[in-house]
Amino acid sequence: MTFEKARMDFPLLERVNYLSTASIGLVPNSVIDKAISTFVDLAQGGTIALNEDKEVSIYETLRNEGSKLLSCNKKEIAVFNSVSEAMNAIAWSLGIKSGDIISTSEEFPSVTYPWLRLMKDTSLNIDIIKANKGCISNDELLNRINEDTKVVVLSHVEYSTGQKFDLAQLADAAHDVGALLIVDGIQAAGYCPLFVKKWAVDVYITGSYKWLCAPFGTAIAYISPTLCDRLEPALVGWRSVEDIWSFNPEKLVFTTGAKKFEYSTSAYGAKIGLAEAIHYLNELEIRNIELHSEKLINILLEELGQIKGVNLITPSLRGSIVTFNINQKDITKIGQQLANLTRPIIITIRQNRLRISPHFYNRESDILDFIDEFKKIIQ
Ligand SMILES: Cc1ncc(COP(=O)(O)O)c(C=O)c1O
Repeated sequence: MTFEKARMDFPLLERVNYLSTASIGLVPNSVIDKAISTFVDLAQGGTIALNEDKEVSIYETLRNEGSKLLSCNKKEIAVFNSVSEAMNAIAWSLGIKSGDIISTSEEFPSVTYPWLRLMKDTSLNIDIIKANKGCISNDELLNRINEDTKVVVLSHVEYSTGQKFDLAQLADAAHDVGALLIVDGIQAAGYCPLFVKKWAVDVYITGSYKWLCAPFGTAIAYISPTLCDRLEPALVGWRSVEDIWSFNPEKLVFTTGAKKFEYSTSAYGAKIGLAEAIHYLNELEIRNIELHSEKLINILLEELGQIKGVNLITPSLRGSIVTFNINQKDITKIGQQLANLTRPIIITIRQNRLRISPHFYNRESDILDFIDEFKKIIQ
């Protein structure tokens, strides 16, 4: 299927120029149908719609699709309900009591908060590398990793600036001192081809509702087998064990592989939706999506470069996110004016910056229309 044809799956695009996937991705009709029909079947059919095998196979199917997305084995994938939940579950399961956690000042709070919380119960320190004009110096990041470092935790692509990190290089540096690399990939998975094993990342978490074009309520995490074997999940429940139908409340023996981190029922429609969405994206080919995004972002950068007063924040190593501000202009007002056009242009305002985040369903003309309207507004 071509990207042009895929646009038919997103009815909003007929009347709206949607450039805000870094906030919420649009969900294709086929994914909506699967998620809704699961919800309706369960609501109206109870146990007739969900027998024991099906309850096992829902997560199994998602682990399978997740392994294709991340280029790993399905045994290395755990299903969660959100990125924040997964990050907390991992942080509390590591059992680290002292040493340093390295992160950056540009992270989404869910990347750093679990560690800030952990600090209250342990002797851990958090070493936050401060951005210079929104960007983190890669050299500084590498230099700060030392013998005291226990974990390097950051986003693959930063939500606020689009800065992207070389994960293989960071994993090397972390492993040299015996530390772990834990990555939040919600702003990368869906348009970046991902190779978690080749890069030797220890944990890679990603969520459903942005670039993966799936409903809210699901995250998946790759957990490297060597790390997984020595972790004791902090959150447990009836799904933690090998035979989830054994119902033995007196004995807790974890199942094997990353699925030992799964512990409960959940919004099953959202899990089925994410599995279908990953399948949909793989059919479009994620490398093609990446090339398409790069083309759109290059056009955007070239056009922005010609507008006086624009301060670009996004560095050259970046994902499908561009942020910038403009001298002496009210950024929030610009966002509102764009949203109020006859054909609304939906962008995001974050930290007094405009954020543009195109996906495969955007056209070159979406970028050029944005530029035209933006120029008119700032004149
Ligand atoms: C980098 C990053 N991590 C995590 C989240 C939120 O994840 P969740 O709502 O699944 O906990 C966001 C949402 O914007 C994000 O940008």
